Amino acid sequence: NRRVSVRDLALAKERGEKWPMLTAYDAMTASVFDEAGIPVLLVGDSMGNCHLGYETTVPVTMDEIAMLTAAVVRGTSRAMVVADLPFGAYQEGAVQALRSATRLVKEAGAGAVKLEGGERSAEQIRLLVQSGIPVMAHIGLTPQSVHTMGYRVQGRGEEAAAQLLRDAKAVQDAGAFAVVMETVPTPTATEVTRSLHIPTVGIGAGPECDAQVLVWTDMAGLTPGKLPRFVKRYAELRGALGDAARAFAEDVTSGGFPEEQHSFR
Ligand code: KIV
Ligand code: NA
Repeated sequence: NRRVSVRDLALAKERGEKWPMLTAYDAMTASVFDEAGIPVLLVGDSMGNCHLGYETTVPVTMDEIAMLTAAVVRGTSRAMVVADLPFGAYQEGAVQALRSATRLVKEAGAGAVKLEGGERSAEQIRLLVQSGIPVMAHIGLTPQSVHTMGYRVQGRGEEAAAQLLRDAKAVQDAGAFAVVMETVPTPTATEVTRSLHIPTVGIGAGPECDAQVLVWTDMAGLTPGKLPRFVKRYAELRGALGDAARAFAEDVTSGGFPEEQHSFR
């Protein structure tokens, strides 16, 4: 197994080396990111919004995560593939979490799983890690809780910052190998990063996190509409793909395609 390991990521934190993480939902895109040297790929339940056409991550199922995780694993040889546990697949308790996570590891080939929640998910994290499944935690804004939390910045104010730190410590103590912090003010996220020995993976959590993650369709400019403040667009794929589709359509209607070199005699 020449894939990136939990140990590699722990060493990176010791050495002060930052690393990137991207989401991936299919084998071909994942192979591009693997070849580009992205060490960790997340089969995020953001697939609900950007791949499956749902409004939120809440409807995403275990079958959907398992199918797309298997595709991302098949498309890669070096990246650690982390699969999200979807809403409803771990909230009942540690035993349910273990059953769900085991499926993603055994059936889909995930190298680790991610689940949302700090103190509230510590019991689940502990059993998974004791059972041999690496766990990435996810605190701050947790999109599966949209119906109770909304999509607001988390950890703002003294009390919320203290809770975020308790959540971070709780997942570290439970054995998580890393923790995503989503939409957290920079000073709070920085304090958490300095207080933990496991790497923090920021998304809208400022520059001091040990790693940074973005949803690939956001970072590549494929997602339509207004994007959150924390996104940086590194390409304009939506425009490029639309242009390609329009050029193809124009060629077909005008008779410009196919030509001699595309045809068989
Ligand atoms: O599902 C996802 O894409 C995520 C990242 C934003 C961390 O959980
Ligand atoms: Na997610």
